[in-house]
Amino acid sequence: MYFMTKKILNQNDIINTEMANSYDLDCIFSDNPINRVKNEPLVKNKNDELNKLKKKIQNIENCELKVNASKLVFADGNIDSLIMIVGEGPGQKEDELGKPFVGEAGILLNKMLKAINVNRKNTYVTNVVNFRPPGDRKLKSSEITKYSNFLRDHISIIDPKILVLMGSTAMESLLGSKIKISKERGNWKEVIINNKTYLTMITFHPAYLLRQADQKKYSWEDLKKIRKKIDELGINF
Ligand code: URA
Repeated sequence: MYFMTKKILNQNDIINTEMANSYDLDCIFSDNPINRVKNEPLVKNKNDELNKLKKKIQNIENCELKVNASKLVFADGNIDSLIMIVGEGPGQKEDELGKPFVGEAGILLNKMLKAINVNRKNTYVTNVVNFRPPGDRKLKSSEITKYSNFLRDHISIIDPKILVLMGSTAMESLLGSKIKISKERGNWKEVIINNKTYLTMITFHPAYLLRQADQKKYSWEDLKKIRKKIDELGINF
């Protein structure tokens, strides 16, 4: 898996061992042309595909997250949304309610979206992992990797025009662990997932902003870029 930015990044910088071991190399180096322009939906019946994916995640084996969590937290929002937001993983409230971003970080997320005139209900929100980490501990890289194919398939099913990766875990899941969010946030990137290119903005996670309020000024710059792109693409809510 690789991605392009305005800076030319060497593919070797991006494909680290962990990713190369976990992804299908035939797919990474596929000769198939990348679908950049077609607007045809990638999947015919999103609900069916989402249900199948949910079942696969529910059946995940040897997962410490699953055995300790009370609920699978799959996603929330409009499955036809052109904006997909990816967070990290469920916390206590999300685990109780089975919905992502319903706790404090979710309240801030709603406000951030409202600030650019976007109603959260019109977006589609999910996480890198779908079960609450025990005691809200930091996710292990092996767990991020284990769930990353689910996330990729999730993105392919929703097929958004704008993908927003909130926080370094979401970034790591799709782009590997060698890059730093402080460097990568705030610039549009083209991320290739299952042979399709997604316009992607990496930005800070709301939970981080709750701890580091002085970083909100950067987050605001990113949000304004997202608003501008929504307008340029003519996305209506
Ligand atoms: N933080 C996340 O990353 N996701 C949630 O669903 C809640 C908090």
